[in-house]
Amino acid sequence: MTKQHAILVGVGGYLPPRILTNDELATRVDTSDAWITERTGIRQRHIAGPEDSCVAMATKAAAAALADAGATAADVDAIIVGTSTPDEAFPATAVRVQAALGVTAGFAFDLAAACSGFVYALSVADAMIRAGQARGVLVIGAEVYSRILDWTDRGTCVLFGDGAGAVFLRAEHSGVGPQTRGILSTHIHADGRHGDILYVDGAVGRPDRPGHLRMLGREVFRHAVGRLSEVVGEALAANGLQQSDIDWLVPHQANLRIIDGIGKKLGMADSHVVKTVDRHANTSAASIPLALAEAWHDGRIRRGDLVLMEALGGGLTWGAALVRI
Ligand code: UT7
Repeated sequence: MTKQHAILVGVGGYLPPRILTNDELATRVDTSDAWITERTGIRQRHIAGPEDSCVAMATKAAAAALADAGATAADVDAIIVGTSTPDEAFPATAVRVQAALGVTAGFAFDLAAACSGFVYALSVADAMIRAGQARGVLVIGAEVYSRILDWTDRGTCVLFGDGAGAVFLRAEHSGVGPQTRGILSTHIHADGRHGDILYVDGAVGRPDRPGHLRMLGREVFRHAVGRLSEVVGEALAANGLQQSDIDWLVPHQANLRIIDGIGKKLGMADSHVVKTVDRHANTSAASIPLALAEAWHDGRIRRGDLVLMEALGGGLTWGAALVRI
């Protein structure tokens, strides 16, 4: 028996050229390179310039993913952008990207799940491909958190960066089972009771109050370790796989301590955990596809490898995806 699967055939990323180091940040708020590095593993972050809108960065990442797949605009019939920092309330970032790429078929929409945005978008794309509603899907994570940070709050402004990452998924008929190429399964969750531990106190379209990110870091940290361990177990069990079957962990890049904690729990060799948090900081929905792009293009991740992705963010939202490359 064969079934329609979402095969990951191209990956791309874009980072704005401007780099902000911990030392430079320490000239603006009461912090230090030592504190930031010790507590988070972050050494620097990329910050969007005036030309690096959410749409512009998403378009560059998507174009790179398409080129990597050897695909063109004519192969795309759906675009999903995970973002919490769109340039406009509407049209959706995805629709602007559609126009910029010259895609004329299908549909495009944004999805807001904060740092879990990419895993959520991957889950929706996978379901649509399995249902036969789309055949060529661009899944993008694009964020400009520098525009929603309170640059006087040292508890949050040191943690985030800007950027975009994208994958291109192609529908293919293939056999069923854990050796099948493509997205094996996705597992997404939300618990709105914890909405106030990580949120933005304003909204796009409110020029009087565009909003700043607010976070109870210690609380989020506590939830992250527990929820991520659970969802990773759920993903493995759903496919009858063991921890030792995972070739690569490509986690959301919020904090090195969380990443290392999950990696240890899974018994992963450190060299098989993809880490970009030191250079990118937390780019929210863009962090997983940006990390994936790095390990994909430097040749670490290869065809046949089993990749586990996981993320937790505002909402709370969290999720995991298992993908056979
Ligand atoms: O992507 C979405 C998910 N987000 C996350 O996963 C973030 C999860 N949380 C974290 O990563 C960590 O909780 C943080 C990195 C945000 C904070 O680390 P922490 O070890 O939990 O520190 P803390 O918040 O408990 O603060 C410890 C101390 C405090 O001082 P007192 O009260 O002990 O005197 C803070 O005021 O560190 C102080 N502090 C800072 N000091 C220097 C907080 N931010 C800074 C800073 N520089 N930037």
